[in-house]
Parts: sequence; C-alpha cells; structure tokens
Amino acid sequence: MDERRQERQKSSGEKRGIPRLLSWGSLSLFAVMILSACGPSGEKPYTTLSPASETADDIHSLYKLVFWLSLIVFVGVQFALVYLSLRYRRKKSDTKRPPQVHGNKRLELLWTIIPAVVLLVLLVPTLNILFDQDARANEGSLQVDVYGKQWWWEFDLGEDTVQGGQDLDVTTANEIVIPVGRNTVFNLYSNNVIHSFWIPQLSGKLDVIPGHVNSISITPTETGTFYGECAEFCGAQHAWMRFKITVVEEDEFYAWVNNWRTSPAISAQEQPEGSSVIQAPQKFSVCLSCHTYNGAENANALSGIDAFSTYGPDLTMLVCRETFAAGMMEMTHENLVQWLMDPDSIKPGNYMGTMIGPGKAVELTQAEAEEMADFLFSMVPEGGCTTADGWNTTDTAATPAVESTPVSTEATPAA
Ligand code: HEC
Repeated sequence: MDERRQERQKSSGEKRGIPRLLSWGSLSLFAVMILSACGPSGEKPYTTLSPASETADDIHSLYKLVFWLSLIVFVGVQFALVYLSLRYRRKKSDTKRPPQVHGNKRLELLWTIIPAVVLLVLLVPTLNILFDQDARANEGSLQVDVYGKQWWWEFDLGEDTVQGGQDLDVTTANEIVIPVGRNTVFNLYSNNVIHSFWIPQLSGKLDVIPGHVNSISITPTETGTFYGECAEFCGAQHAWMRFKITVVEEDEFYAWVNNWRTSPAISAQEQPEGSSVIQAPQKFSVCLSCHTYNGAENANALSGIDAFSTYGPDLTMLVCRETFAAGMMEMTHENLVQWLMDPDSIKPGNYMGTMIGPGKAVELTQAEAEEMADFLFSMVPEGGCTTADGWNTTDTAATPAVESTPVSTEATPAA
C-alpha cells in the first residue's frame, strides 16, 4: 500500500461519526414534504393534495402509492446505512485492510430484482389509470373546447347529452362554470405555441399542442371554485395565464348558460326605455375587430366590420367575471379604465397593447375609457350578475333558452 493511500485511510478514520453517517439532506427533504402536506386546503388553491374530481382522485391515489413505497425504501436504506457503518466500522485494533470483495452475483441479482418489482408495482396501476382516463374522455356528457391563447383561455361549451346532444353555444374566457357529478370533457386546442392545461384539484397536466387535439375528462365530485393555470412556458405573460372553474349543481349550471344566452345584445341604436344597457361608444367598433360578443350579428351595423374575430376574449358577461386579463386584474370599474387606457403597461407584451394605448393606433382618453367601462358594466344579464351562490334564473325570449334537465326542473324557475 502506498503512503498516500495510508494517509487517506487514516484521515477518513478520524472523521467517522454517527451524525456524518446520517443523510441530513434526505431527512430535511422528508420534513419539508411532511410540512407541505399540512394546513387547510382552502388556502392553497393550487394544491394537488385535496382532489375534487375522479381524475384528480386517481392521480392522488398514485401519489400515495409512490409516497408509501418511497418511505419504505427510504427507511430501509437509512437503517442499513447506519447499521452497517456501525457494525463494520474500523476499530483501533484493525491494522490491516479488510478483505476486498469484487462481484457478488447473489447481491447483484437482489438489487436488480427489488427495484424492478418496485417499478412494476408502480407501473401496473399507473397504466390502469391512464387507460381508464383515456376511455372516460370518449364518453363525456358535456364537451368543452378549450383554446390556449397568448395569454388567456377561451372556453366553448358544445354538445350536451343531457340536452339531447344540443350545442350549448356558449363562449367565454378564463372563467367557466360546469355541473357537478357529470363527466365534462375538455378538448384542448392551440393555434400558437404549446401550453399546458392544469387544474391541480381537478386534473393532471395535459399539453395543449398546435395541430393535435388532446382531451381530458373531469368529473367533479364536489361543488366549489377551483383554480387552473398554464403549466408550460409559453411566452412573456405565461405566469398570467390563469383560469377558474366553478363547479355548481346542474340547475345552477343551466341558469348560468341561460344567463349567457340571454345576455343583452350590442346595439348601435338607442336602447329601449327601461333597459339598463347604455349605448355603445363610437370607438367600440375598434374593439370588435378583435373581440366578439353574444349577439355579435347585431353589432355588424355598429362596427362596419363583417367578420368578428376571436383574437381577444369574448366579452359576453364580461363584468360577471371576478377577474380579467387571465386572473391578473380584479374586475372593478377603476381597473377596467386603467386597462383600456394602457393594457401594455399592465400586462406587457399582450396583443391588445399592440393596438390600444398611448402612441398606438387607437388611444382612449380618460373620459373615453370611463365611458367604455360604463358601457361594458351595463352589459349584464337582466337582474344583474350573480355568483355561484345563485345564478340569475330569469328567462327572456331574446334567445331560446336551454331546457333544464328533468331532475332540476323544479329547482329552476327559468324552466
Ligand atoms: C388587437 C386586438 C385587440 C383590440 C383592438 C382590442 N383588444 Fe381587448 N383584448 C385583446 C386580447 C388579445 C386580450 C387578452 C389579453 C390577455 O389577457 O392576455 C384582450 C383583453 C381585453 C379585456 C379583458 C377580457 C378578459 O376577459 O380578460 C377587455 C375588457 C378588453 N380586452 C376590452 C377591449 C376594448 C373595450 C377594446 C376597444 C377599445 C379592445 N379590447 C380592443 C385584443 C384586443
């Protein structure tokens, strides 16, 4: 044995001690994991630990399986590490090197087979759940097309089997209402970059890919408000591409749909007496080159533009949303005025700011922005906006309403 090796062995012998043998790094990681699991879920809208749908529940059961298996492996490895280090540590009386072992077939087989078994235990239920979720995405009772935009979400409610396959024909942005206990299928589209659709309490992440439609099935098991976000970096305002899903009872869901469908239409004419809607400002025609609205055909006369773009969010029931600009701004008159005057200073890089704002093609003065906000705030369904605690159920003859389901007829005055 050369001198240097003897020197190395000597110094490592001096450094030995139980604290060094324990892996403090792993222990603190473990403690952080335990701590992060504590606390009420209401304060953590992005938690994956309190699932509220069948899909999320399945994923959570996999988490638990991985956690307990890892715990067994962790405890076993730490125990073996401590035990072997103490049992075979160098004693003062040891002067010679211990016998050097090279290769041990039995051991090597063992440490190949054990991880293989652990992986198999994880693989089988994972595949099971994957196939199960795939199958559920083919048997949804409500279809919602989701368009990942830069940087907001469009939701189109389509075919509804409870309504005999009728297309609900509701388009909204960033905030959507769905019924509890029903399998809603979200079909994900993008015509720009890759996004990822994720509502931690309701689903796993699923990529939104240009040129390919992915579908995810969600059957919420409880009512409430759940928050989602884009989980794939997609450009400057990726962090402000949030959305909200409100899960309500079926009758409330149809009341919300009817509210949307009977929302006041845009009109270039003086509004009839008694209407709460004020006349659209002149400059609203500019807005309609990027935005659309329920009853947009009425607005043709107003804008003089024949095609209505979905370049920006559909503004129907806009002020009934809690936030705008994909979860960034609270929906207040003041915030809206600020947004209309200079959207780029609020959400830098957003596409509305390329056309609207100081020094851009269209500039709104404070007075014009206030007038525009007044107009948008007047565009509410009859009876005003209501929250998830009770959607406005008044029916109007303006647009044929969606029938309520037989089960909820009694609970819905609109029917
Ligand atoms: C160049 C196209 C374009 C024009 C013109 C435009 N917008 Fe926008 N608008 C957008 C886009 C894109 C967004 C989404 C921004 C985001 O959240 O990233 C948006 C967002 C909004 C929002 C927030 C909606 C929500 O649900 O988050 C409001 C309100 C709005 N625009 C009103 C207007 C008004 C009023 C005008 C006319 C003065 C106008 N816009 C003109 C493209 C446009």
